[in-house]
Amino acid sequence: MIKRNLTRLFIVGIFLICLTLFVTKGSLFCNIFVPNEYTKERECQTLHVRKDIPRIYIVTPTHTRLTQKADLTRLSYTLRLVPNIRWIVVEDADQPSDIVKNLLANSELHYTHLFAKTRTESLKKAARRNHRGVNQRNEAISWIRRNAQHPGVVYFADDDNTYAIRVFEEVVGWHTSFRRKISTDMAGFAVSLHMLEDHARAQFRATAASGYLEVDFIQQLGVTLSDLEPRADDCTKVLVWHTKTEKPSIKNEALILKWYNYTSDPNIEV
Ligand code: UGA
Ligand code: MN
Repeated sequence: MIKRNLTRLFIVGIFLICLTLFVTKGSLFCNIFVPNEYTKERECQTLHVRKDIPRIYIVTPTHTRLTQKADLTRLSYTLRLVPNIRWIVVEDADQPSDIVKNLLANSELHYTHLFAKTRTESLKKAARRNHRGVNQRNEAISWIRRNAQHPGVVYFADDDNTYAIRVFEEVVGWHTSFRRKISTDMAGFAVSLHMLEDHARAQFRATAASGYLEVDFIQQLGVTLSDLEPRADDCTKVLVWHTKTEKPSIKNEALILKWYNYTSDPNIEV
């Protein structure tokens, strides 16, 4: 009797595992078993290294689209002007892309290249609330907890915004720094490495209400409004712009194909 029940339990277990793999298209499996750190370290002679200030870990989620290379190129040039950074780029993908791999290899920056696909369920939940890059930032946070060195500070820089170099000077050396009230945007605060380590479970949650992704994360760090350290001349300077690159229209491609049976060279990276 017990043996038969155990056999049934085993069969149900196998069925559930198969169902999970089918529903998640194997991504659950990949998330657990595939090491998703692609490029660990790159030393570069031309970098500014300073011993007197903390290392800034800059976390950038990124996803495939026509303007991705343009956006990342612009951000990489900004980051070249900043001393002591490590750029943690996390692709929303099942595997690293050549575009990002090549861009990072040519960036002359210290970088770490990770990837973490937005899981379907969290994407659906997050999309309703306009949260993007959630899994990717969490992937970077767990890498940081495992690998970052003190003293350090963490800043979340989306790939399409415009950053004044001064914003990176402002985030250095502070436990937390916010340029706005607790209802800050992603680019409006930085967190010390100590704080991330002291609150080892804190992460971005796709379930946070719309507009509350950041404050939900900050509150998990045990921070209240009075703990914030206003920066940028007491929040009187704008140092980051929430810009968005216009989605290019490629409708001519279809017309050229139809009229001339011809396409742009798919082997040329854009
Ligand atoms: C973004 C975020 O969605 C908000 O969570 C954040 O609060 C806000 O910026 C902010 O700066 O305060 P938005 O600019 O509309 O809003 O979103 P995107 O720029 O499209 O995406 C944010 C980041 O996630 C980008 O780095 C983007 O490349 C990445 N992303 C986007 C993904 O990794 N996967 C996606 O499917 C979409
Ligand atoms: Mn954006």
